[in-house]
Amino acid sequence: MPGKNLRVVVTRKLPEPVETRLQELFDTRLAADDAPMNRDALAEAMASADVIVPTLGDRIDAGLLGQAGENLKLVANYGAGFDHIDVATALSRGIMVSNTPGVLAEDTADMAMALILGVPRRLKEGAALIQSGEWEGWAPTALMGHRISGKRLGILGMGRIGQAIARRARGFGLQIHYHNRTRLRTETEESLEATWWESLDQMLARVDILSVSVPHTPSTFHLLNARRLKLMKPTAYVVNTSRGEVIDENALTRQLRAGELAGAGLDVFENGHDINPRLKDLENVLLLPHMGSATEEGRLEMGEKVIINIKTFCDGHRPPDLVVP
Ligand code: DGY
Repeated sequence: MPGKNLRVVVTRKLPEPVETRLQELFDTRLAADDAPMNRDALAEAMASADVIVPTLGDRIDAGLLGQAGENLKLVANYGAGFDHIDVATALSRGIMVSNTPGVLAEDTADMAMALILGVPRRLKEGAALIQSGEWEGWAPTALMGHRISGKRLGILGMGRIGQAIARRARGFGLQIHYHNRTRLRTETEESLEATWWESLDQMLARVDILSVSVPHTPSTFHLLNARRLKLMKPTAYVVNTSRGEVIDENALTRQLRAGELAGAGLDVFENGHDINPRLKDLENVLLLPHMGSATEEGRLEMGEKVIINIKTFCDGHRPPDLVVP
């Protein structure tokens, strides 16, 4: 099909060069503003488009997919995670789903490292002290955190992002431990100097910092529940740059408040941007607004991936980044 006949609807403002290119190539309707589309607008988009480009804030569930027009053939997600899309229902209705894997792994790993370093070294409190104007100069006992080097880092989920975290963390002298459904190939494990734990529970009890990089699926929902969090040492830190739903946020908050964990660095939350207020109050947590992939380079590359997926589909081929449930 000639690209200009392909009706593409984008649900959210994207970086300008991505929007320009989408408009050059296809009959593209861009988002009117930078607010998430409401459900009615999404349903209308699904009914009229050949291809829809949603982001992680758009819940493309069975109800919405039921309102898709006959023309809708591809959901080209702008993002790697696709837990907001009911892929099984989409496929059963003949609608393909693609994502943007790989291009955000390094940036997200950088953000995980910022939290892995920043929480034990109390960056939030240090910055707040300067901002408050109350800093009175260097003091031998002020803002003492904990040494990173020599500590055990547990990586939960050793895909692209987990491995990118491991490569960085070794440079900081951390000992790498990981839990993944499948063990890495021996060469990869050796090059990362990483120790595999078949039992997540056993790994949790040993690590000083846990970094979560496992995607949110029905089997990882609340993988870190109250029972598992209690296995961790009271001196341990938890970092999450994946999806909030992997951790039971209320249980984590309770344990942080009770001093049963030393601190947490979270870029993602269980209910989107509706964060447990009791978590926000804590001094030993560093909370970020889901900005792991937020670099100009990464967001452009995500756009390029979306365009390649749509263009390949338009040319009558199988888009390279199709996902399965
Ligand atoms: C993704 O693409 O799933 C990321 O979470 C966005 O930062």
